[in-house]
Amino acid sequence: MQKQRRLIIAGNWKMNKTVAEALDLVQGLKRELASLKEVDAVVCPPFTALEAVSKAILDSNIRLGAQNMSEHAGGAYTGEIAAAMLKEFSVRYVILGHSERRQYQKESDLLISRKALAAHAAAIKPIVCVGETLEERESGRTEKIIGSQLEGSLAGFSKEQMQETVLAYEPVWAIGTGRNATPQQAQEVHAFIRQTLVTLFDDAVAKRVRVQYGGSVKASNARELMSQPDVDGALVGGAALEIRSFSDIIKNSI
Ligand code: 13P
Repeated sequence: MQKQRRLIIAGNWKMNKTVAEALDLVQGLKRELASLKEVDAVVCPPFTALEAVSKAILDSNIRLGAQNMSEHAGGAYTGEIAAAMLKEFSVRYVILGHSERRQYQKESDLLISRKALAAHAAAIKPIVCVGETLEERESGRTEKIIGSQLEGSLAGFSKEQMQETVLAYEPVWAIGTGRNATPQQAQEVHAFIRQTLVTLFDDAVAKRVRVQYGGSVKASNARELMSQPDVDGALVGGAALEIRSFSDIIKNSI
């Protein structure tokens, strides 16, 4: 079945890759994906490699994303990075509310929505992440958790802003564990997310927003996951760190 929404597959490099390593990876991806037209391919290196990667992909079909951003436009916020600084490197996307940041930096839904609104103000598309823990799933609270993360993290969005947002469903128990959600489990939650978008926004918005799946995506499971009707791409961690595995994920998804 041909999907109306264009697949978007993004590599979240997390805290990996020096500048030299980042360049090796992205040069290889450029070669492998030179003829790619069907999918939006995005790489999200650490801040320190943004400039080098940005230059390297100028003449390619790969787009650039960042892994975090401040909710403030500038000022006395030691260690933070503002939207305008990302724009200097033609950053198009920014991952916000990743479960690692929710867990280790104690990021709240409110903070995530503020960051996302700051990204929209700078015409950077946020990739807003949601996902339940194993304990939450096993106690039957998946929908309740995802619903409240969506409501909080998307608070204050206009319909136009929502349409320019990418969502990522990343079950915490599937991240870095080698245990991906089954295609059926992913589809179930993605359908719930789309239904929630109907409630929070409207039908037209819900139909247009792309929802990625993330959590142990690899070349061998990408096709089946991406073929689910409400799965519109992937947010890839470990398997995005190598040329072969990331390009195979993309090729297998087409
Ligand atoms: P893995 O693909 O390593 O499970 O990580 C997923 C993720 O957290 C992407 O943001």
